[in-house]
Formats: sequence, C-alpha cells, structure tokens
Amino acid sequence: MENRKKDHINQAFNARVEKDAADKRFNYEPLLTAHPVDKLAPFSFAGKTMRLPLWISSMTGGTGKAGNINRNLARACNEFGLGMGVGSCRILLEDERHLPDFDLRHIVGNESPFYANLGIAQLEQLIEEKATDKISRLIELLKTDGIIIHVNPFQEAFQPEGEIIKRPPIDTLQEFLENTDARVIVKEVGQGMGPESIKQLLQLPIEAIEFGALGGTNFTLLELLRSQEKELKAYEAFGKIGHTAEEMTKMVNDVVSKSNTYKCKQLIISGGITHILDGYHLQQKSKLTAVIGMGSTLLKAASGEYEELKGYLQQVERSYQLASSYLRIKNEIEHF
Ligand SMILES: Cc1cc2nc3c(=O)[nH]c(=O)nc-3n(C[C@H](O)[C@H](O)[C@H](O)COP(=O)(O)O)c2cc1C
Repeated sequence: MENRKKDHINQAFNARVEKDAADKRFNYEPLLTAHPVDKLAPFSFAGKTMRLPLWISSMTGGTGKAGNINRNLARACNEFGLGMGVGSCRILLEDERHLPDFDLRHIVGNESPFYANLGIAQLEQLIEEKATDKISRLIELLKTDGIIIHVNPFQEAFQPEGEIIKRPPIDTLQEFLENTDARVIVKEVGQGMGPESIKQLLQLPIEAIEFGALGGTNFTLLELLRSQEKELKAYEAFGKIGHTAEEMTKMVNDVVSKSNTYKCKQLIISGGITHILDGYHLQQKSKLTAVIGMGSTLLKAASGEYEELKGYLQQVERSYQLASSYLRIKNEIEHF
C-alpha cells in the first residue's frame, strides 16, 4: 500500500493527459456496470461461432516463414474464438506442396469460421475455363467454411506480374454465386470500396463484406515499391486513393437504412485498424452485425513465439470487455 502511494506521488506529473487528447468518440459511463468477469458471450458469424469479435484478415502463405505465422494465428483462433481467412490459396491450385501452410483446420478447431482466399482474376479465369469445381475442391481440401474473394484491380495493375481483369468483378461474382453453394466473402486489399460498389455488393447473397479499407497496408504502394523507380513516381498517387473503414461503415449504414432488399448481412471492418478501440467504435456504429478485422498488426504479433501473440490477444480481449462495459458511442451531433 505504502509503495503504491509512493508510486502515485512519483508518477503523478508524468501521468497527465491534456484536454485536447480526450477521445471524443465515446461516452464513458462508470456508474452503470460492474467489472466484467465473465467470458464474452459466443455469437454466430460467417456460419460458425466466435467468442471475441476479432477476424484475422487474409495474409501470407507459400513462403517458408508463413507456415509458422499461420500456425500461431490458427492456434489463437482456437484459444480466443476468433475468425480467420488464410492468404491467397492460388499457389495450391497449381501445386499442393504448400498445403501445410494452409492446412490449419485441425488447429483452428471446428467452432471458428475459417475461410480460403482467391483473387477475382483467378475466379474469372476459373469461370472462363469452366473449372470452378477447383474451388469446391479447395474448400474440401482445407475444410474451410467457404471462400474469400479479394477484388484488387489496382494491385493487379501495378504488380509487375499482375493479371488483367477482363470483366467487371461484380458480374464475375454474380455468375459464381449463381452456380455455387459455397459461402462467399468479398474484400478489397487495402483501399476499400466506394458507395456504388458497396451498394451493389450488398445486394448479392454473400456471407459478408470485408472492407480491406485504406489506412493500413496498401498493396498499390507495396507493388510499386517492388517495381522500377520510374513506375513508382508515375503511379504512387494511386496509393492515396480509396476509402477508410470509417467512411465505409457510414456508406453501408446509409444503404441499409434506405433499403431492405440487401442480402449481405455481415461485415468484417478491416483496413488500418491497429487498436481494438478503433474497431470497437466502428463495430458499435455499424447497423449490420460486424466483427473487427486486423491484418498487419496481427502479422507482427504472430511473427515470433506463440506466447507473444497470446499476451497481445489477452490485452485485446480485456480492452474489448472494458470497452463493452463502460463505453457508449456518442451520436454524431455530440461527436462533432
Ligand atoms: C503480408 C500480407 C499479405 C496479404 N495477403 C493477402 C491475400 O493473400 N489475400 C487478401 O485478400 N488480402 C491479403 N492481404 C490484405 C489484408 O487481408 C488486409 O486487407 C490489409 O492488410 C489491410 O489490413 P491492415 O491494414 O490491418 O493490414 C495481405 C496483407 C498483408 C500485410
């Protein structure tokens, strides 16, 4: 007790928060709730059950390091009740030698949603070749709950070895959905989507939209950094194009409050979310059931030992529990 009081005196001048730093997004209600001691209640998402509303956004596979990272992430999925998408499985369509990097269901367990991933260019090609049964085979092979299709025209355009997208992605998706029973999630890869794309996507019978919004890892920039200096200079302005997760949450809310014909009912709010409070804020604002997606932040935490990732996720879980107990969203008028 005495030591604690001493600490308080010593640290008091270091622990000041300026008024300008106040987080204006939340009302803090300290009187209404006891400390959360119970585990978070399980809920259904993307065909399975989650416990912490955190989604591991599709990343890596097919390189030496990826296997270890993916196994760490899969283990966390099981322990914390997360959802997970693996990185692009294109390599598996060509060569099954990389299967161990993606074959994670036995680690993830059967409760959590777990999805495969392919690009829109590959989907277009498989439809053209009348070979979409390869997608069913992929889902079977990996025992996933479905497939995530990433729509990435800028990434393909600026990638030195990129593919040409020959048809409007919305037409390709529609055709695929008419001919499959698989659960499908559609995402961008770091630049998000504008209002018209969101509106049309919400009308498709897909399991969820994952934002892959602007504000975090940006594949246009990443691909340009891999190319010649001249290319980088000419095209880098495209890296700043796109929509943030906040903007996209508003766009979705706008569509669903004006129409009730939308068929997609779930969101993964991702892209530039590095702190759980940022995700919590948007999740609470969303009119659709939403979970919070993270890519590079989880990649970093999963790159070492599992215990490091576990420690990080324990903090995330605690933060989410405290936020749900004591923070309420300010309405727009209060907020601005
Ligand atoms: C190393 C790395 C690899 C990725 N690979 C894929 C991929 O194969 N398929 C995909 O849909 N998105 C991929 N992404 C994009 C992420 O799923 C996510 O949309 C993007 O990183 C934005 O989230 P963040 O800002 O939290 O990183 C990758 C991201 C990273 C960092």
